[in-house]
Amino acid sequence: MLHIAARQNAGHGVIADRMLAEGQRLMEAGHPIEALRLLEAGNQAAPSASGWRALAEVRLDLRHHADARLAAEAALELEPGCHVALTLRARAHGMAGDTRAALSDAADAVHAAPRDGAARTALAQALLAGGHHDEAIAILGEVWSDAPHEPAPALRLADAFLRAGHTAPAEELITFLLAQPELPAAARRQAIGMRAQAAMARGAADEALAAARSGLDLFGADVGLHSMAAHALMRLNDMENARPHLLAAHRLAPQDGYIAHLAATFGAAQPERAADAYVAHLFNGYASGFEASLLGLGYRAPGLMLRALEELRPGLSATQPIGDVLDLGCGTGLVGVVLHDVQRGRMVGVDLSAGMLRAAAQKGIYSELREAGLDAALAEDRSLYDAVIAADVFCYFGEIAPSLAMIAPRLAPGGICLFTLEEHAGPEAWLLAGSGRYRHSEAALRAALTAAGLDAVILRREALRLEKDAPVQGFLVAARRAGGRA
Ligand SMILES: C[S@@+](CC[C@H](N)C(=O)[O-])C[C@H]1O[C@@H](n2cnc3c(N)ncnc32)[C@H](O)[C@@H]1O
Repeated sequence: MLHIAARQNAGHGVIADRMLAEGQRLMEAGHPIEALRLLEAGNQAAPSASGWRALAEVRLDLRHHADARLAAEAALELEPGCHVALTLRARAHGMAGDTRAALSDAADAVHAAPRDGAARTALAQALLAGGHHDEAIAILGEVWSDAPHEPAPALRLADAFLRAGHTAPAEELITFLLAQPELPAAARRQAIGMRAQAAMARGAADEALAAARSGLDLFGADVGLHSMAAHALMRLNDMENARPHLLAAHRLAPQDGYIAHLAATFGAAQPERAADAYVAHLFNGYASGFEASLLGLGYRAPGLMLRALEELRPGLSATQPIGDVLDLGCGTGLVGVVLHDVQRGRMVGVDLSAGMLRAAAQKGIYSELREAGLDAALAEDRSLYDAVIAADVFCYFGEIAPSLAMIAPRLAPGGICLFTLEEHAGPEAWLLAGSGRYRHSEAALRAALTAAGLDAVILRREALRLEKDAPVQGFLVAARRAGGRA
């Protein structure tokens, strides 16, 4: 009996090996779905560490990160400490947005195999996600110099330069890559997209448009290239020609929240608020240049918040400070900066963008910073605040009443809710403007305050900042809980 069972197992093993080999061939040939089926079947017949690793790889290819992590864990159970499986799990964590776990696994993988390119690349990607651009660039530079003619390491290094805002070396690398006649089509398309991105980053929208168009001519429809062409045209104020590119990008990637939001500004169905993915992507991209660009736009929201507080609390000063403050959509922490001298107590910041929060953390003003959506943070919070502030944040919301209703119970007796809002004069309660921001009517603002149980103590028109050299008109609002509970 034992003999027969052993022979059966050996037979299963041979078949599973064949399935594994064929699955890997299919994966390399760019057929991940077919590869997945074979690898799953092969691994079920005779599980092995190499089978689980191949399965993790193909699941990562398909962006099934939770299943990929499970496969990498199964491989690690059979071969503890294997640097390949650790690298795969690091990539799965990275894809799930768990930067800390990705860093830890990738560091272990590099420790186990210091010269392994995939492990070093995973470590660099985790460092990049954590905002440690220079360390990531150093590692990716080493990986690239080990194989300077391979496109993937060069593309990753160029991408890291772009994310760090180092446009010149990124463009140098891209030019070097595009000069290679043998460059595979997928890499060429990616490099052209990066060329457009680099041109946009240094403000050359016309060059970005030319690069994106050349890519579309060469390769046909592509989400990244359509979206880049749309952005360049929007920067050039050519909304009419931007529209078809944006709608094409939206058709190709309907699940992309960033593109969906922009497409909505061009007449697709208007969502009730900007998708979290749009906000996080937009502000992660802005984070490094945010304050400099706002200075140029005469940005007034944080100063208006301070002025309103001074009006409502005469004598506000270092000796008569305001207490606990919740800064919703705190961004880089400009509200914290303007309140610094007149506030004592907790200063809690909440934002969806990790990049903006990193900049806020560097100021050393906030007692706590949370990476979260505003509603999720309010739902969890049981504290009371003397002021809850949202400076230039509700312009990413159409419906503001639900969030205001969550703010009201967080106000301590006498507590103040302060925010700005962009105005529109039409009959609609709110509309999504071409800028990607929402504008509200005064009637809708007043109705939202009432619905949320708030009484306005200040509600006046203010110029919030400049846009295309013209002031953006909006409202400055300060409100207390209705019904004399102040
Ligand atoms: C224009 S910035 C203003 C930042 C800051 N309040 C200031 O005045 O400098 C808008 C900020 O709101 C954040 N934000 C927008 N929608 C959000 C949401 N639903 N939850 C949390 N943060 C949000 C963005 O990530 C961004 O940092």
